[in-house]
Amino acid sequence: MTQDELKTWVGQAALRYVVPGEIVGVGTGSTVNKFIDALAGMAGQIQGAVSSSEASTARLRAIGIPVFDANEVGELGVYVDGADEIDGRGYMVKGGGAALTREKIVAAQARQFVCIADESKRVQTLGAFPLPVEVIPMAAQAVARRFAAGVQGTRGEATLRLKDGAPLVTDNGQHILDVRGLQITDPLAFEREVNQWPGVVTVGVFANQRAHVCLLGTAQGVQTLT
Ligand code: A5P
Repeated sequence: MTQDELKTWVGQAALRYVVPGEIVGVGTGSTVNKFIDALAGMAGQIQGAVSSSEASTARLRAIGIPVFDANEVGELGVYVDGADEIDGRGYMVKGGGAALTREKIVAAQARQFVCIADESKRVQTLGAFPLPVEVIPMAAQAVARRFAAGVQGTRGEATLRLKDGAPLVTDNGQHILDVRGLQITDPLAFEREVNQWPGVVTVGVFANQRAHVCLLGTAQGVQTLT
């Protein structure tokens, strides 16, 4: 069983949370791409989608699904997205694909967050995956110093994410720090504290916007964790 097959399974399994006639919130990443592929079969049945990235928007439009601006619609029934890490409470680290800010916005607009992930993403404690933090460029070094000094009993080393030798620029025109070495034992408190630092746009801890359901792809099949 390959990781790619597990992603395909959970992408297909998420279809059962998509309600015909509604607008669905769509995340970003390789697992979500499998969900979008599966969603093609429902293209005529749903009203459309609100997307969390330019990449997902292009993929949705390519299969004929209308994409709405988040401002054009009200509350969404469901948001489907992947994760870089998820713990037993549904708290996640996200942002490996640099789309964390729009992901958090669309997740907050939905009543239910359905996380789709292969079993490699399941962890006891968040932090082994480098934590993405979207920052205003002029604040990058100040935010990095705060992580080095410590937050909620843990310290981390932040590095600026690069693409083709230059700082990666997000869909929102900002930069990403990846913070290594953290052990995030209280994700709610951690998210609350880092959110208050000047220059932080979004921290990739999703505790307020936790997953309500996790469809976990395992060699034994898709497990539904609530
Ligand atoms: C995108 O910014 C991320 O939050 C993704 O949801 C996360 O990185 C999972 O991506 P994969 O499905 O590609 O592992």
